[in-house]
Amino acid sequence: MKKGKQLKAKEQPENQATYSLLLDDDDYFIDWDRDAAGVQCFIDAGCFPYKAARTFDGTQMVTIIEAQVVAKDIKVENKDSGKVIFVKNGFPIVVCSSGLLAIRGMADIEGNTLLPFEKIRTSDKMMGIPFNKPFLTGNELSYIQQAVSSGRLSGDGMFTKKCHEFFQNKFGFRKCLLTTSCTDALEMAAILLDIEPGDEVIMPSYTFVSSGNAFVLRGAKIIFADSNSLNPNLDVDSLEPLINRRTKAIVVVHYAGIACDMKAVMELADKYHLAVVEDAAQAIDSYFEGRPLGSIGHLATFSFHETKNIQCGEGGMLVVNDDRFAMRAEVIREKGTNRSAFFKGQVDKYGWVDIGSSFLPSEIIAAFLFAQLENLDQIQGRRKELWNTYYNEFSQLDGKESPGLPYIPSYATNNAHLFYILCKDESERDQLIAEFKRNNILAVFHYLPLHKSPYYHFRHDGRNLPQCDRYSEVLLRLPLFYELTDEEQQAVIEVVKRFYQKLPEPRTRFVSDALIR
Ligand SMILES: Cc1ncc(COP(=O)(O)O)c(C=O)c1O
Repeated sequence: MKKGKQLKAKEQPENQATYSLLLDDDDYFIDWDRDAAGVQCFIDAGCFPYKAARTFDGTQMVTIIEAQVVAKDIKVENKDSGKVIFVKNGFPIVVCSSGLLAIRGMADIEGNTLLPFEKIRTSDKMMGIPFNKPFLTGNELSYIQQAVSSGRLSGDGMFTKKCHEFFQNKFGFRKCLLTTSCTDALEMAAILLDIEPGDEVIMPSYTFVSSGNAFVLRGAKIIFADSNSLNPNLDVDSLEPLINRRTKAIVVVHYAGIACDMKAVMELADKYHLAVVEDAAQAIDSYFEGRPLGSIGHLATFSFHETKNIQCGEGGMLVVNDDRFAMRAEVIREKGTNRSAFFKGQVDKYGWVDIGSSFLPSEIIAAFLFAQLENLDQIQGRRKELWNTYYNEFSQLDGKESPGLPYIPSYATNNAHLFYILCKDESERDQLIAEFKRNNILAVFHYLPLHKSPYYHFRHDGRNLPQCDRYSEVLLRLPLFYELTDEEQQAVIEVVKRFYQKLPEPRTRFVSDALIR
């Protein structure tokens, strides 16, 4: 069992002592207060469960074997045998003889009764702020129920059609095909473009692994391009020298849902007869010069992974804007068969006509997704509100200590997929992440450069990609999700402001709520 460091008195006004406990394995700490009402305890920051912490009950040291957050509907076991109860600002800390430490519900100072968590005043409510929390609109289960009742659960049923129509009507996409992920949609794109060994595909190094992997699976060599200095999107000026006779396609990634310069990309593609795939995984409901992202390249791919604005756990979509690919896309998605044409009555039997795989999702996934799509405007509204609040608050930070903010070119819109700040360097970012962690807020960095990845670094042609490296080191994503409350967002903002303005620590910090669900 690990032991905490020595408890030490920080201050000792009359009838009160405050102790800090620094745990060995990290820098979380717990403050312990003792006052006239009895011994009280306050978890100051950190992650749960705490293990092997030591506490102070006023007269003796008590060793906690296991510390565990007890959710509102979980009873504290052996509560009669545990007699040490601490309450701080309405937060009960119950140490049972079993060694459990409970941080939930309300406990009276004498007894062991836990009241429901809801009864704790909001101002006292301890919070933990996750990075993301998938939002449920409320209709997901009933639509899944409808799909189940219809007796048609495999792909391309009623809900898949509804999703396709939604995208085609709202964004004017030529042809939409739901897939089980954006990764799958990218793999379909690589097959559709007949990528073969010896072909080269240009894409940013600052992207998710699937953008590259899908083409590597077909034997392509990836030619990584750098990001631009204003945002992590491709530096379009660096593209032309990368094109040669082996180049077959350019994959653009609209990072954070902010458009790449599609005019420049499409002109280059036309000039050299290249295909363009928009990796629009993050770019639903975002625009380039008024045109929806995903409608400009020959092919485009979307993700509905749970981290995306519209999600179904795992899911994706291929958009076919060039009619030359439309029929074959259906075949590839259906294991290389013309089953889709058969169901439409276009052929009288179906068989194996091409390569492909099982890329289509079941109706259960489509039903879930449709419930989300119906609420797109509402979801986008709230996300944009949160995004703007971050932006406005941080814009007011002045001085050289303030973080860099997202740059949105005049040709692009913002779909509030993610909000990032740019730190001065990696060390500053590490410190800020640690500061968030101490406040029980999860802020996360993003991609590691693909050109330096263990898989690809020795395949890369050796060019330096300094902007990609920089974003990889300094970019930090802040919590942004539909159900993030104003209060929670203010807590996030406060951490950033305190960090950059070197303001004193507040006495109260935010402690886990959502993290333990
Ligand atoms: C740019 C980009 N491309 C592709 C993907 C893969 O998406 P999926 O998880 O739906 O396969 C992601 C996922 O986050 C992404 O951000």
